[in-house]
Amino acid sequence: MEIKTALTYDDVLLVPQKSDIVSRQDVNTSTQLNKKISLKIPIISANMDTVTEADMATAMSLAGGIGIIHRFCDIATQAKEVAKVKRKQNIVIDNPFYVSPTSTLTDVKEKIKEYNCKSFLVTDNSQKLLGILTPRDVTFIKNENALVKDLMTPQDKLITAHHDISPENAKKLMRENRIEKLPLVDHEFKIKGLITAKDIIKNYNNIGASKDNKGRLIVGAAIGVRSDYMERAEALIKADVDVLVLDIAHGHSSNAVNAIKAIKNKWPDVEIIGGNIATGQAATDLIKAGVDAVKVGVGPGSICTTRITTGFGVPQLTAIMNVYQAAKKYHVPVIADGGVKQPGDMVKALGAGADSIMMGGQLSGTKESPGLPITYHGRQYKISRGMASLTAALARPDAKEKLKEITPEGVEARVPYRGPVENILGQYIGGLRSGMSYGNARTVEELKNNTKFIRITNAGSRESHSHDNEVL
Ligand code: XMP
Repeated sequence: MEIKTALTYDDVLLVPQKSDIVSRQDVNTSTQLNKKISLKIPIISANMDTVTEADMATAMSLAGGIGIIHRFCDIATQAKEVAKVKRKQNIVIDNPFYVSPTSTLTDVKEKIKEYNCKSFLVTDNSQKLLGILTPRDVTFIKNENALVKDLMTPQDKLITAHHDISPENAKKLMRENRIEKLPLVDHEFKIKGLITAKDIIKNYNNIGASKDNKGRLIVGAAIGVRSDYMERAEALIKADVDVLVLDIAHGHSSNAVNAIKAIKNKWPDVEIIGGNIATGQAATDLIKAGVDAVKVGVGPGSICTTRITTGFGVPQLTAIMNVYQAAKKYHVPVIADGGVKQPGDMVKALGAGADSIMMGGQLSGTKESPGLPITYHGRQYKISRGMASLTAALARPDAKEKLKEITPEGVEARVPYRGPVENILGQYIGGLRSGMSYGNARTVEELKNNTKFIRITNAGSRESHSHDNEVL
């Protein structure tokens, strides 16, 4: 049997090209997540329960990337996390929070806590707008039983607009009337949305963010391929998720193909990323089943032990190259998932044919990750864990019955606390911009086409790192 050699990031370097790029600012880091969605930076946060929930997904999208909400929670909780991101920044809030006119101040205070929102529209049972309740209306009220209808600013004193008003005209109306909230209504005065000054300002300040066509941040969410996956997909789609990510370790399987077909059959316009895979044939099969992007990576991740437990996997650089060769025939983007430890690895992944990278470990120590913060020997860390690790398996509802069947393919680890995720992303994008100038690539597409790899030896690898000194 012929045994082929396969390589990963540390086995190679990119050969510098004659470059006409005079400044790192002259390169464009935009890329395609899938055929429909483009990103301003090629970085995705992983669907792991120590990496991506709403806070991380929001930060990723604000930075121009995207986050994928993990699925290790019940369906309603996952859909809620998606909805939180979609609400973070939008010009029009489609489903504003509302209260009934007969609610008491106590009811309102509970809603303030539940939704983390201080202003509410007041509507009757048919969603007709009756008024608005803002902090100004309630701050000095002592009677907890006071009714909303006696506290609110009533409809006849409100400035409202028809729901198809343009963002520019809405802004003008709000400026002229010095109001912070503009309810949008139809001809029967039924609520159709809400525009807030805060969202207009945020939108204006965040022109680099990844947004949908309503100005909302984009977000993805993971689904499995068994039991409740259709129900989960439906709830996520209802929450306006932008892309579904198939989350299974061995994506080249009939279960995955059937799940992709079932989803595309029911919701032809829903975007799906399929994976994880490591071969060209897997890419072809998933693309034929209907995926809009493929995700590569069997065992390269920082907390993965799949290769140790099962003996299977393909070193990540070779896996990306093989998948790219197949996917490019169909113009389907490739995501390199796992194993990126430093910015140069990302540049190599893109050079090998990936359109974007997914990271877990590198982002798990940040402020926005949901991982448990701990202090160890006076230093701050966060817990990161593989989704096939022992503790992740034990956290599942059916863990007790399946105890004997658990064979971990991942580990739990502590990672140093690294502050806000924008710091890490800044380092990665700085490295990418610089790398693109070494490769004479103004775009990610040019990086793929211009790249020349060279294989290095252990001595070459040692030379690449700082050496013969004590690093401070
Ligand atoms: P990094 O290297 O960025 O990799 O931390 C993140 C990716 O690792 C995958 N993942 C796992 N792989 N066992 C595995 O073999 C696991 O328990 C596990 N948990 C996550 C996943 O693809 C993720 O995006």
